[in-house]
This record gives sequence, C-alpha cells and structure tokens, in this order.
Amino acid sequence: MTNADLSFLKLSGRGNAYRVQEVINSHLSHSGKMMRPKIIEIFGLIFNLEKEKQYLIARSAELIHTASLIHDDVVDEADTRRGELTLHKKTTNSRAVLAGDFLLARVISELVSAGEYEILRTISEALEDIVEGEFLQDQLKIKGTNSKEELIEVSRKKTGALLAWCCSSVAQVAGAQENIVKKCHLFGEKIGVAFQMIDDNLDFSSVSGKDKHKDLQDGLINFTTLNLLKRYPELYYVVHQMRGSQFSDGPWSSQQIEEAQNDTKEEVDFILNEAKVLFAEITMSSNTENILEITQEVFNFIDQIKERTK
Ligand code: FPP
Ligand code: MG
Repeated sequence: MTNADLSFLKLSGRGNAYRVQEVINSHLSHSGKMMRPKIIEIFGLIFNLEKEKQYLIARSAELIHTASLIHDDVVDEADTRRGELTLHKKTTNSRAVLAGDFLLARVISELVSAGEYEILRTISEALEDIVEGEFLQDQLKIKGTNSKEELIEVSRKKTGALLAWCCSSVAQVAGAQENIVKKCHLFGEKIGVAFQMIDDNLDFSSVSGKDKHKDLQDGLINFTTLNLLKRYPELYYVVHQMRGSQFSDGPWSSQQIEEAQNDTKEEVDFILNEAKVLFAEITMSSNTENILEITQEVFNFIDQIKERTK
C-alpha cells in the first residue's frame, strides 16, 4: 500500500464487456496522496489487525474516495485534478457518473464476499453523510452567505465521514471496545475537517493541480474567503458580486490572501492538536510494542496536513 504501488486498487473480473473497468483502471493510475491507506496501515498496527483485512478496508476506502471525486468533478464542473484532466473531461459526464456508480457497486460486492457486513453498514452510512455534506454545500452555494459552523458541518460530512470510517472500521474489525471505536471515528473526522480547511486554502493556489478559485466561482464562500472577509470587510460587496462567475483574479492582494490562509492554518492547528490528544488516548488501549515510534510517525503525518501544497 504505497504511492508507487497502485496494483491493490485495480479492478478485474466481471464487468469489462463494455470497457467500464478499463476506463476506471486507467484513471486509477493517477495516484492521489493515498492518505487513507496510510492511516489504515497505522491503525492496523495499533489494533494488530491482519494485513488482509487492512487491504480490504483500504481498497474499499480508496475506491469510494475515487468514486466520490469522479462524481464531485462532474458536480463542480472541474477540468483538472492531480494535474490531469478529470474523468468526465476525458470521457463524458454520463460515463464518469456511471464509473463512480460501478466503483460503489464493486465495494459493496467485495465487502459482502468478505462477510464484513458491519463495516458495509457503516461505509453506507458514511456515504450517506458524504452525500448530505454535498447537499448542504449546494444549499450554501445558493444561499450565498454561510457561517463557519455550517462549513465545519459540510467538511465533517463530505470529507470527515470517510476518514472516520477508515479509522473506526479497523478498530471495529479488530474487535476493539465501543468507546475506542468511537474515539477512532472522531479522530478520523477531525483529520478530515482539517484536511478540508487546508483544501480551501489551496483553492487560492495555482500549484495545487486543481482549478483555481473553483469554490467562489461555484458560489461557495469557503473557510479562507470567510477569513479574508473577516479581516477585510470592505471586500465583502465585491467578493459577493463575484460569486458564481468566472474570473481569473480577485480584488484581494496576495498579502491579504496569505493572512487569511494563515488564519485558516491557526484554526487547523487547534483541530489537529485535538486529533493528537485523541490519538494518544487511543494508543493507551494498545499493547503494540513500538507505540512511541508509531505515535511520532502519526504526529509527523498530522503536521504535514497543515503544510501540504497539493
Ligand atoms: C471534494 O470536495 C468532494 C468530496 C470530498 C465528496 C464528494 C461526494 C459526492 C459528489 C457524492 C459521491 C457519491 C457517490 C455515490 C460516490 P471539494 O469539491 O471541496 O474538493 P476538491 O477541491 O478536491 O474538488
Ligand atoms: Mg470539487
């Protein structure tokens, strides 16, 4: 389960008569950060979960994650992701939506084949949350104004739910106590919210591999824009006028954006610290030998979330 080795994600078997799998497999070769498999591997060590089960959870998470991004790029009408054309740009909107559906169906059949019904139930709930998060976000785009609490709720659902599932399902399958499973869920959720807040910073970047200013162009006032308007309320009117329109440059200076991005990073820091405390509490119940090294590795990983540029 490394960045270089994506073979564990490839689809094979039934369902290639009309090249659906072929389209998906070639898309899967454009690797993401593989953040979920890395977290699952770490939690696998903490809960001493056999490799085969770790793979099943990691594959399910990555396939659902891929499906949701394929759908998301159709919804957001995004042209690029990971520095590449999005799947709907390479094919068509309908084929991209169908490819996402195929991935979802494959995850269900693999979890059923493995007899993992409980985590099939919880991944279905996570997917419901993801869709709810997208629904709320869509409503906010139309409403035009939103609070930080509303944005946190969107992030908790659209990004936090799957990471929460990754962590909690390892604990669940390994037979951990219910209160520990819950802590794992909360840890993943916090990581997801923090990740999404940095994603909002990167919406103002030209090196992220994704379209720039997509959120505001789609009508969404994201975390960073909200922080910008808090510092510079004089920009409020013109920024709101720009919502939903195509533009290349905003009325802000690079220094103003940097300040807003730093405000977001400070809030992210707070959430990531809460995640570190949760992680420390989770490891208290583990009898894994090298827990100090694992904790250090996780804390480094957590710190990288704040500093990422892609
Ligand atoms: C990225 O948000 C989007 C998500 C994390 C979730 C999108 C989910 C759906 C569209 C529903 C998927 C449904 C099924 C059945 C698979 P973003 O647009 O803020 O991030 P980006 O900058 O990476 O595009
Ligand atoms: Mg998007």
